[in-house]
Amino acid sequence: MNAPIPSVPATSAETLPILIAPQTILKAKARAVTPADGDRVRELIGRMFATMYKAPGIGLAAPQVGVGLRLAVVDLMPDDKPAPIVLVNPEIIAQSPELATREEGCLSIPNLYADVTRPARVKVRFHDAAGVRQEIEADGLLSACLQHEIDHLNGVLFVDHISVLKRNIIMRKLAKAQREAR
Ligand code: NI
Repeated sequence: MNAPIPSVPATSAETLPILIAPQTILKAKARAVTPADGDRVRELIGRMFATMYKAPGIGLAAPQVGVGLRLAVVDLMPDDKPAPIVLVNPEIIAQSPELATREEGCLSIPNLYADVTRPARVKVRFHDAAGVRQEIEADGLLSACLQHEIDHLNGVLFVDHISVLKRNIIMRKLAKAQREAR
């Protein structure tokens, strides 16, 4: 997900190119991270944070950098300070019946935004970078961001939550911007 953040934490890792919709991998279901992925995932996490902070964004999922693993990084930078969250194999284990609507954007759909309605609160279970099982209960922006990133692991983009009409408008604008950028 993208949102204005006031400053970018310094990081030494190299950035990765962010894939832009409609790339096929963005529509694919990613596979679970296993212990055998350990070294690759450790390196990837650093590079994903570097890529996300530089963009800048507040969330980035592995499929957005061309890797079909259930891995995402999030940092809402509360009080302008880094608060990185690594989500390995995250799953939503509870969600509120109440819904909330918030404007969303995505680094894979740059500079285009739409109101998306989702459950207002979620509980997410995941493993952190050290492999420790964690749970977060989130509302507000963090709730939307976690749902948005977990969607990426299932091949779902924020535009899949809006009307076909609005989605087509956004995808046409995106295609035009991509053509003009070439
Ligand atoms: Ni996104």
